Amino acid sequence: MWPNYSNMKTNTNNKYSNAAFPIVRLRRLRKNTAVRELLQEVRLSARDLICPLFIEEGVREPSMINSMPEIQRIPLHKAINEVETISDLGIKAIILFGIPSSKDDRGTSAFSDNGIIQQSTRLIRDHFGDKIAIITDVCLCQYTSHGHCGIVMNKKVDNDSSINTLSRIAISHARAGADFVAPSAMMDGQVKAIREGLDESGFSDTAIIGYSAKYASPLYGPFRDAAHCTPEYGDRRTYQMPFANIREAMHEIDEDIHEGVDIIMIKPAIPYLDVIYKAKSSTNLPIAAYSVSGEYALIKAAAMEGWIDEDAVMTEFLTSIKRAGADIIITYHAKKMAQLLLNR
Ligand code: PBG
Ligand code: ZN
Repeated sequence: MWPNYSNMKTNTNNKYSNAAFPIVRLRRLRKNTAVRELLQEVRLSARDLICPLFIEEGVREPSMINSMPEIQRIPLHKAINEVETISDLGIKAIILFGIPSSKDDRGTSAFSDNGIIQQSTRLIRDHFGDKIAIITDVCLCQYTSHGHCGIVMNKKVDNDSSINTLSRIAISHARAGADFVAPSAMMDGQVKAIREGLDESGFSDTAIIGYSAKYASPLYGPFRDAAHCTPEYGDRRTYQMPFANIREAMHEIDEDIHEGVDIIMIKPAIPYLDVIYKAKSSTNLPIAAYSVSGEYALIKAAAMEGWIDEDAVMTEFLTSIKRAGADIIITYHAKKMAQLLLNR
């Protein structure tokens, strides 16, 4: 029976306390900021964050990206300055995306030793040494004239020739000095092909971050504006994952582990916290989450209208991604979040 509090007579001075049915007072631990901070379960740190950088070949000046306010494409000669700023904020890693000045149907500029990512990686490595971890995105879509993530044959993305090319790209990034290569093409066997290629070329120390569960998501729209990589025809649903599936994501993750991946990535982040949680609880590899361009744009747009508080929403979203199980988070909010953490 439910006790009737209003009629209850007890000996305490609080008429709602009763030994048989005490109220559990969770609010005691929320009484002020100091108490709340003491008991906070998950804390963000600049060290959790990975800052994306768009480096554009053949330009002198940075350019704005309409759908990604405050994010720029930068020319190579501004990269050192930008990485300095990022590093001074306490961020330990960057992920590089290239915007090449030429594209062809084989994505040749993606694996050239003088490609934009190879040049950027060498420059940043020479200047910063081991102070910052360099991750490179390994894909073909920015480098192919058709904008698909692999080699196209008869209007279809051909898996096995694509993984050979992805392996060549990864080797060229490793040669330039990348700490991690991150294949994002969602081709079957890409991790295996890259691991074998790296090992045979003497780069057994270069690690692989697999975009293991990369969903076909409309949230990549702003990135495609930024990196000019919208597919000319068709879409990416023959290689990226259907958003309704989680068992398939776990299968992708199992295969990547089997093929030798070092870190598992889930992408996007906020709509897929269940996948992050499940990956964290069923594997022992580090988990990365990629909070993508569309997630950034949603927050930014509402904040610019004055409808939400950007700092507060950014903090809540990133903390939630970490709480779900992400060890490291790629986010376009990295600099802003790190700055906010410094100011607290
Ligand atoms: C390239 C790549 C994409 C993203 C990361 N690497 C675009 C895509 O797959 O279409 C998206 C990142 C973002 O939206 O922030 N394959
Ligand atoms: Zn791609």
